[in-house]
Amino acid sequence: MSNELQGTVALVTGASSGIGEATARALAAHGATVAVAARRKDRLDALAGEIGGLAIEADVTDREQAIATVERTASELGRLDIVINNAGVMLLGPIENAPMEEWERMVHLNVLGLLYTAHAALPHLLKAAEIGPRRVADIINISSVAGRVARRGSGVYNLSKFGIGAFSESLRQEVTGRHVRVALVEPGAVSTELTSHLRPEIREQTAQRLANIERLHADDIADAITYMVTRPRRMAVNEMLIRPTEQEM
Ligand SMILES: NC(=O)c1ccc[n+]([C@@H]2O[C@H](COP(=O)([O-])OP(=O)(O)OC[C@H]3O[C@@H](n4cnc5c(N)ncnc54)[C@H](OP(=O)(O)O)[C@@H]3O)[C@@H](O)[C@H]2O)c1
Repeated sequence: MSNELQGTVALVTGASSGIGEATARALAAHGATVAVAARRKDRLDALAGEIGGLAIEADVTDREQAIATVERTASELGRLDIVINNAGVMLLGPIENAPMEEWERMVHLNVLGLLYTAHAALPHLLKAAEIGPRRVADIINISSVAGRVARRGSGVYNLSKFGIGAFSESLRQEVTGRHVRVALVEPGAVSTELTSHLRPEIREQTAQRLANIERLHADDIADAITYMVTRPRRMAVNEMLIRPTEQEM
């Protein structure tokens, strides 16, 4: 436990499992009051109960729900200093004959869900950066190694993560002078529920590809995020690419 984030309010999307859940716990352990958002309300309630946070049931692919998530956080918890734009889905497979429904799910969540949340959060973050306690605010977008390296069988996931990388850099240039730090976190393989949504044959191929790699834990990524948001006001960690040691690509 530490109190570096005392007096701050954080919002974590996709906090009902994996990286988001671990990050919510880590930010709370550093003193932040945390709003946790996702669709599985039972999980959010348990987590919010544990960390003394606010559970918000929301599908962030719905623009109104994404906006309401941000506005509820700011109104019920009083401010908004940190946004972890984490909700995402990875539906791999060749482009040829791909189910278009999978592409739509990825673009709606990984791109549009993130954009809606960022857009709604920005005025609150700019205000938080002006009015203490840290006089700096953070928005961290969770990309992937897939946002840096394109691979066959990953075309639309690559598109979504490369896209948010470009968006993040553009936004960073617009707001960094006003002390809103915009950062990108790019994990390699992390042991979470992410691959459970793959089609069975693709899940099997992915498991084989990663069979000899000791995967990262969600806590490893939460650690990196906590490091980024607890830096002094003068220091912005813009990007962090974190692979399992044994992961080559
Ligand atoms: N695991 C990896 O190897 C890895 C590597 C690189 C990047 N990432 C990225 O890390 C992020 C988190 O993934 P994870 O690995 O922690 O997987 P995960 O355990 O499957 O977590 C995904 C989270 O997103 C939420 N979510 C899904 N659809 C949503 C929607 N429409 N509205 C709101 N929330 C939604 C899920 O909650 P509900 O189902 O309850 O809504 C869940 O909390 C993703 O952006 C992913 O691309 C993961």
